[in-house]
Amino acid sequence: MAIPLRFLIIGDLIGDPGLALAQKWIPRLREEYKIDGVVVNGENSAKNGQGITPKGFELLKSLGVNVVTTGNHALDSKEVYALFKEREDLLRPLNFHPECPGRGYTFFNVGQHVVAVVNIHGRVFIKELLDCPFRMMDSVLTFLRHKTPIILVDFHAEATSEKRIFGLHLDGRVSVVVGTHTHVQTADEMILPKGTGYITDLGSSGSMHSVIGFSFEGAYRKMVVHPRLGKFEVETALPLVLTGIVVSVDPETGKAVNIERIKVVDHELVVAKCNGK
Ligand SMILES: [Fe+2]
Ligand SMILES: [Fe+2]
Repeated sequence: MAIPLRFLIIGDLIGDPGLALAQKWIPRLREEYKIDGVVVNGENSAKNGQGITPKGFELLKSLGVNVVTTGNHALDSKEVYALFKEREDLLRPLNFHPECPGRGYTFFNVGQHVVAVVNIHGRVFIKELLDCPFRMMDSVLTFLRHKTPIILVDFHAEATSEKRIFGLHLDGRVSVVVGTHTHVQTADEMILPKGTGYITDLGSSGSMHSVIGFSFEGAYRKMVVHPRLGKFEVETALPLVLTGIVVSVDPETGKAVNIERIKVVDHELVVAKCNGK
């Protein structure tokens, strides 16, 4: 077997705490695990947790992140639309309407190897208008596999059942399917029967004692008192937690040979204003 390639894939970064965690821990994890490529979901990395800003994207690129994926919050911040059009390493879900700025898959190189990354969105319990992710994925897979057997898929979805179905549907045809969007890491990382690495959700990176990255008080008022009398605000209190996986892939077959869940709890990190202002 060829020497496996190792990929670090990190779930939704939440606001400045998420970017600060990325800034501190991506270089360390890259070193510790001898990482060949990094993919990060940045859909909540804007200061208010809604969308991604050009500044946040550039910060992630400065850390050596190869590809930034997103999800339902991709187009929240209008200032990033131009970037979606310009950059091939910033993805929005493949099954968004074709008129939406951006693209749903891209490629990067690790030495002589080509790696494909796909960002695609589930439909169960999701209000956005989306094409069928299963048929959409199948329609691009022949093309992707013609280019490379190494294919990393970020499936941004709500329902665990839809994520499991998506993983098994792609088993043996892509290297890894990672779920994002629910912001809570699941403990079901595995290699599926035909060789695809899988986890239902990578989890998020932000404040640990929060409501999926947001402050308790505002979320409580929004959900319990009245939707208009509460607000989701990014929580910055320590400790912070970063979650994701490291997956090892045989570059010749594209199959996963190992998948490991990552969870780093940080009690010391001072949250800088990564988004400025
Ligand atoms: Fe998210
Ligand atoms: Fe999301």
